[in-house]
Parts: sequence; structure tokens; C-alpha cells
Amino acid sequence: MASKYQLENSLIYIANTEVPYNKLGITDSEELHEIERELLEEAYQVFNTELSDESVFDEAYFKSLHRRTFEGLYEWAGKYRDFNMVKGNSRFCQGLYVETSSQKLFAELVKANYFKDTRFSKAEFVQKLAYFKGELIALHPFYELNGRITRLFFDMLVRYNGYQYIDYSGVSPEDYINASIECVQFADCAKMEKIIMDGLT
Ligand SMILES: Nc1ncnc2c1ncn2[C@@H]1O[C@H](COP(=O)(O)OP(=O)(O)O)[C@@H](O)[C@H]1O
Ligand SMILES: [Mg+2]
Repeated sequence: MASKYQLENSLIYIANTEVPYNKLGITDSEELHEIERELLEEAYQVFNTELSDESVFDEAYFKSLHRRTFEGLYEWAGKYRDFNMVKGNSRFCQGLYVETSSQKLFAELVKANYFKDTRFSKAEFVQKLAYFKGELIALHPFYELNGRITRLFFDMLVRYNGYQYIDYSGVSPEDYINASIECVQFADCAKMEKIIMDGLT
């Protein structure tokens, strides 16, 4: 439960800080955030360049985004958690079921051919994206950096489908968290759907 997660997940952080242990031995949170930002920016370029009609948005791809973006920095890059985890009042997928839930979820996406269907209207496409994003947010499979890798994944998925990266600049962090809370606690992705709709061109 909450205390269990906090105990288990806290192992990745330097005691009494929010700074994860890292391969560069950085202890300054600002410095680490800056490096994470740079790695993510490089990842956007690399993964965007790699996109093609043959791209596959399966679970291996999702894990590889996390691993390849952050393996220079974190031991746990690309690895799923197996302990329970909460944020605020939200309880994410139980650690025991992360692997199987993820496999099931990505099997759905593969079966849906990554939503690549020119007959979809934008509204239909957004509805499918929001459902899947809500499920991924509730899964919260990685130790850290779930938000950023989930957004990277969806940005590549929408590029593959002929759209530009989703623009979140009109969304406050609070609104994004509130939309996430509704996904996790109420399985309601209406707010996330609106965020995606507004940011997609
Ligand atoms: N209270 C909450 N309830 C539900 N989801 C949340 C909550 N807080 C954060 N989230 C989700 O978790 C993500 C942050 O997870 P995290 O692993 O810290 O990634 P990052 O470090 O990239 O932000 C947010 O983007 C949001 O989707
Ligand atoms: Mg975080």
C-alpha cells in the first residue's frame, strides 16, 4: 500500500531527497533535471528520425523509449516496477500485475493497428488515444519518468498517424494531473481527451 510503495520506491532516491541515484553521481536536482531535459530532447530527434511506415508501437518499443533515453543516467531505465505505487490518492496498477496488464494493453494497440486508419475522424482518433493514454497513466509502469515517456510515446504515435506532436503548452501542470487523476481513480478520460483534442493538429 502507500507505505510499502514509499518504502520500495524510495530506494531509488538519495535519502531524504527527490534526487534519484544516477550513473553520473549528480546530487543537485536542478542539474539532474537539466540533463534529463537534454536527454529527452535528443531522444525526440532520434526516435522521430527512426519513424517509418514499418514502425511498431508495441510494448518492446515503449520500453525501449525509456531505456534508450535514460540508460546513460539510470540503472532502472527501461525496467518495469514490481512493487505497488501511489501518488496522492491515486493507486496505480498493482506491482504484481504491471507486466501482464501492460502486455494486454499493448496487444490491444497492436490489434488496432496503432489506430492507423484513414477513415477515422480526428475526434474518433483522439477518443482512442485518450482511452489508451488513460490506461497507460493508470499502469504507471516505470519507477520514474512515466509522464515524459508516455508523452514521447504518444507524440511518436501521432506523428506516425500524420499529425504533429501534441502541444501541451496550453495545459497547466495542475490540469494535467487532474486529468490523470480522473483516468486513474475514475477510469474517466474525458479531461485527457480534451487536452489531446486541443493540442493535436
Ligand atoms: N495524483 C496523481 N494521480 C494520478 N496520476 C498522477 C498523479 N500524479 C501524477 N500522475 C501521473 O504520473 C505522471 C508523472 O509520473 P512520473 O513517473 O513522475 O513521470 P515524470 O517524472 O516524467 O513526470 C504524470 O504525468 C501524471 O500522468
Ligand atoms: Mg517524476
